[in-house]
Amino acid sequence: MIGKDLSLAIDLLNDGKLVSIPTETVYGLAANALNEQAVIGIFKAKNRPFFDPLIVHVANVEQAKKYSNNWTLNADKLSKQFWPGPMTLLLEKNNLIPDIITSGSSKVALRIPKHPLTLELLSQLNFPLAAPSANPFGYISPTKPSHVEKQLSNQVNYIIDGGDCEVGIESTIVDCTSDKAKVLRLGGLSINELALCLGYLPELNTIENSNPQAPGQLDKHYAPHSKLIIVEDLNLINLKDSNTGVLSFGKHFKSIPNVSELNLSEVGNLDEAAKNLFSYLRILDEMKLNQIYTQYLPNIGLGIAINDRLKRASQK
Ligand code: TXA
Ligand code: MG
Repeated sequence: MIGKDLSLAIDLLNDGKLVSIPTETVYGLAANALNEQAVIGIFKAKNRPFFDPLIVHVANVEQAKKYSNNWTLNADKLSKQFWPGPMTLLLEKNNLIPDIITSGSSKVALRIPKHPLTLELLSQLNFPLAAPSANPFGYISPTKPSHVEKQLSNQVNYIIDGGDCEVGIESTIVDCTSDKAKVLRLGGLSINELALCLGYLPELNTIENSNPQAPGQLDKHYAPHSKLIIVEDLNLINLKDSNTGVLSFGKHFKSIPNVSELNLSEVGNLDEAAKNLFSYLRILDEMKLNQIYTQYLPNIGLGIAINDRLKRASQK
């Protein structure tokens, strides 16, 4: 069921049930983070391995501090500037956070999402919400309520309709446990913005392999069922098969006749491209094409995070 009934959502969450929540990045599949059984329900619904930890969503900075053992100067600076917003901070956890949330790690990922309905919901609950993206494990993240309904309607008790996600790609994850902040996942907040706030360029520690010991950054992720092929230049592709899709960017690309093309941003705007990325990939995927061609976007601003998603989505 989809709707805007927050009191229903609160009742369900109090009861240990799963509710899909809108955020500015992607839709989440939420449950009471302090209730282990409810959290197990999230892993099962997504078919997600237990080694991949969950982000804990809170209403305000006070609550974030309540669940971390060691609130650092970096966390202070970043949270003041970018929360609520598309950024997740990794901090030492305390005993209030069940080990299943962090897959046994001593660090917990915390975030205040920027969406009025979800902020209202969080402020009315007396527990934080664990919420991964509301997609089956490994598939494209949802940016509209209908995406969640299509794939998880049997697993989720209620979907809060918060419209289309404004940012469209997941939060940037920053490890704030030491003096030097490190970026663990590229996302909706650009490295430049982080650097301006921190006063230095944070180290990039995104993991490039499929090592289950290094959760979160599995090689293959966000993947459509059709093969996604990244080429140097879409203008140069030579097509023999018309059952092909093209995911393009910028008006310089000349369309190929008889091919399904979606342009992430005709004016070449990277924010617009991020917002469209997952829903366009889904539309193309639903066409059951033999392959989808795309090319990397300019590697600046949100383009860096978009390219990361394209690369992972194209892994065999
Ligand atoms: O924008 C977002 O972050 C969305 C919305 C719903 O908030 N959530 C999201 O969750 O993208 P998910 O589970 O799809 O991705 C979270 C990533 C995973 O790669 C996970 O491994 C990593 O964060 N993560 C979570 N907790 C962690 C921890 N304690 N240590 C290291 N990585 C962690
Ligand atoms: Mg995800």
